[in-house]
Amino acid sequence: MELCWLCISIISVGFHLSYGSQSSLEVALEKAEGLLSSLRTQIEELKQVYGEAVAQNKHQEAVGYPSSCLAASTNTNGVHTIQVPGLEPFPVFCDTRLAGSGWTVIQRRQDGSENFYRSWSEYAQGFGDLSGEFFMGLEPLHFLTLAEPYELFVHLEDFYGGTRYARYEDFVIGNASASYPLAVLGKYSGDAGDSLSYQKGMPFSTFDHDDLGHGCAMTYVGAWWYDDCQFSNLNGQYVDGGRYEAKLSGRGICWMTWMGYDYGYKVSQMMIRPKCSNSIQRQRQRRQSLNFN
Ligand SMILES: *[C@@H]1O[C@H](CO)[C@@H](O)[C@H](O)[C@H]1NC(C)=O
Repeated sequence: MELCWLCISIISVGFHLSYGSQSSLEVALEKAEGLLSSLRTQIEELKQVYGEAVAQNKHQEAVGYPSSCLAASTNTNGVHTIQVPGLEPFPVFCDTRLAGSGWTVIQRRQDGSENFYRSWSEYAQGFGDLSGEFFMGLEPLHFLTLAEPYELFVHLEDFYGGTRYARYEDFVIGNASASYPLAVLGKYSGDAGDSLSYQKGMPFSTFDHDDLGHGCAMTYVGAWWYDDCQFSNLNGQYVDGGRYEAKLSGRGICWMTWMGYDYGYKVSQMMIRPKCSNSIQRQRQRRQSLNFN
C-alpha cells in the first residue's frame, strides 16, 4: 500500500514535472513562433518597400526628361525641360496655341525687345528670353532634329491683326562643322507662301561667320540660311508698324511671299514638332472612324 502511494506520488510528480516542463517548452515555442512570424511579416514588408523603390528608380532612370514637347505630352503653353542624345537637359518653350500641341518654339519675335543682330557663337548657343523674344540656338537645333524626324511651322502676324503660316514636312539642321546648314526642308503647305525653299541646303551665316562670302548677314542686318541672298529674313531688324522704306528692302523680319521685301512682321514664331505626331493623329482618326462605322 505504501509502495503504491509512493509509486502514485512518483507518477504524479513525474506527470507534473513532465507536464510542467512541456507547458513551458510550448510557451517558449509559441513565443519563438510568434517572433518568427512577425519577423517574416517585417521581411515581407521590407521586400515590398525595397522592390517598389527599385522599380521607381528604374522608372526614373529609363524615363528621365522627355525628348520633345510632344513626348512631354503637355497641354500647357510654357517652359518645359527636355533631353536628347548629345546634349544636357535644357529648357524649351512648348506652344499649344497656334497649331495644336507638341510644338517646340525655336524662334520668336514679338516686340523688338531683343537684339537679333548677333555673332556666330551667340546664334550657336542661343539667346533671349524663352517667354519673350529668343533664338533657341543652332547647336540644340541640330541635335534635336538629328534625334528624330521633325516638321517646321512658321507663324507670322502683321500689324493689322492678320496671320498666315508656312509649314514644311521635314526639317533638319546640319552640324557645326558644316555651319549648321538647312540640310533638309520638306514639302511646303500654308497661306504665307514658300519663302524658305530658296535657302534649302544653305549654311547659316552671321556677320562674323560667312561660308559663302556673299556678305548677306551684313547686308540684311540679320542671321539666316542665306544663299545669294534671301526670300526670308526672320532674324532681321524689328520695324514697328511694319512697312519700311524701299531702300531698306529685305532688312526687316521679311517673308517675301506674303508682304514682299518692304514689310517687317509684328510677330514671327518658328516651331518644330516630331513627325510621329502625324502618325499618332492618323491612328486616332482611323480608330475613331472604325468606332463610328
Ligand atoms: C557634319 O556634316 C557633314 C555634312 O553632312 C558631314 O559630311 C560630316 O561628316 C559631319 N561632321 C561631323 C563631325 O559629324
